[in-house]
Amino acid sequence: MTSIGIGLCGLGTVGQGVCEHLFGNRALLQQRLGLDLAVVAAAVRDVAKPRRLPADATTVRITGEWRDVVDDPRVRVVVELIGGLDDAFDLILAALKAGKTVVTGNKALLAERGAEIFAESERQGVPVFFEASTAGGIPIIKAVREAFVVNHFLSFHGIVNGTSNYILSRMTDAGLEFADALAEAQREGYAEADPTLDVNGWDAAHKAIILASLAYGSWLRPADLSVAGIDLVSADDIRFARQLGWRVKLLASIRARDAGVSASVWPTLIPAGHVLASVNGVFNAIMVRGDVVGDALFYGRGAGGSPTASAVISDLADAATALVSGGVPRCSGFRPHALYGRALPPGELESRHYLRLAVDDVPGVLGQVAGALGANGIGISSALQPEEHDSGDRAQLILMLDRAKESQMQRAVAELEALPCVRGTAKLLRVESFGS
Ligand SMILES: NC(=O)c1ccc[n+]([C@@H]2O[C@H](COP(=O)([O-])OP(=O)(O)OC[C@H]3O[C@@H](n4cnc5c(N)ncnc54)[C@H](OP(=O)(O)O)[C@@H]3O)[C@@H](O)[C@H]2O)c1
Repeated sequence: MTSIGIGLCGLGTVGQGVCEHLFGNRALLQQRLGLDLAVVAAAVRDVAKPRRLPADATTVRITGEWRDVVDDPRVRVVVELIGGLDDAFDLILAALKAGKTVVTGNKALLAERGAEIFAESERQGVPVFFEASTAGGIPIIKAVREAFVVNHFLSFHGIVNGTSNYILSRMTDAGLEFADALAEAQREGYAEADPTLDVNGWDAAHKAIILASLAYGSWLRPADLSVAGIDLVSADDIRFARQLGWRVKLLASIRARDAGVSASVWPTLIPAGHVLASVNGVFNAIMVRGDVVGDALFYGRGAGGSPTASAVISDLADAATALVSGGVPRCSGFRPHALYGRALPPGELESRHYLRLAVDDVPGVLGQVAGALGANGIGISSALQPEEHDSGDRAQLILMLDRAKESQMQRAVAELEALPCVRGTAKLLRVESFGS
């Protein structure tokens, strides 16, 4: 049986998962693919660190230098699972220049430098596979490139960060405040010691950049996105949203408009009865809307050693099959349909909003607030003023607003915060009803 040599760079959470399942399900893979995926070399930072590797993995050459793996003549596919930006970029470029197929799960790197990587892939005629970079075990990249080949993509809406979703789920179900839910997520192993990119929305934004770029034909830059994280959501917001019939989710939204592609990640109120509202805990889900297929929903585990290994190994199978057949894999490289090349500036993004203000509990306040919003062309669709008071003479005012551009909302919020009857800063979340 033909054997394809695999070089694994990184034996952390995902790398060990890949190793475990390549060895563990080797016979099944041989049966299905008619070839052998053989891990022959692996690179780590610290070779002395104890690792959980399968017994059969003793044949794997483990080195502290990723260049040894790229240069190993037995290695035909290089798997980049070291994470980070600089070394990972150098590694991928070195592998491509050596004519070796690349598989990566590095969303941050693709979001930042995907354009350069795919330009090099094109120049060398060597493919880069990246299923694991977006929504872990969910095969969304393959679906976009292969299963939906006849579709123009109208929109994507996704819950693509499991840590944030776990925290919001606990805030909803147990009434926890953000800090307590985050501490619990860290204790349970669902959040990193440094959870910054998860809670500030940027991990989800990296995935949105990859999906949008794949679907719409040019690499969006981070500055093209409007991004806010769940660190601005409080238990009060979740409670008020529930009273109004909504759930709060960190939603990545990508839309094709005549004027260009819009992409954003925001804590968003979605209807309690919508299917995405029932995606809880660490699970991810992505709803794709195509002009031919209509709505399609993908659900599964977006992170973790085994789910992510499942995606990496699917890429390895495609890469190896293409190498054996001598053909270019159908899903290789970055082949967008290129109908939309422009990104809409974040200020132009339109959405409905939820606005919470702490205000003086005196007559006439609602009129002043409505006046400031109206002066910026923003209508109020409903208002809630709970009986409970913050303290003494202060009240909460919750407003559901009509559609407005982000730039309009920013101006209105600045004016509202300057009103003498408004205390502190306004709380602004998005509202999505999943219309056209
Ligand atoms: N974890 C997930 O659930 C998940 C899901 C989807 C995508 N990803 C992506 O997959 C990648 C890997 O994530 P991970 O969670 O497995 O990371 P991790 O647990 O931190 O593992 C990183 C591995 O890379 C090695 N490494 C780091 N820098 C290196 C260098 N310069 N040269 C050689 N080896 C180096 C480390 O070696 P030592 O072991 O010696 O320190 C470690 O084995 C990241 O890009 C991540 O965004 C992760």
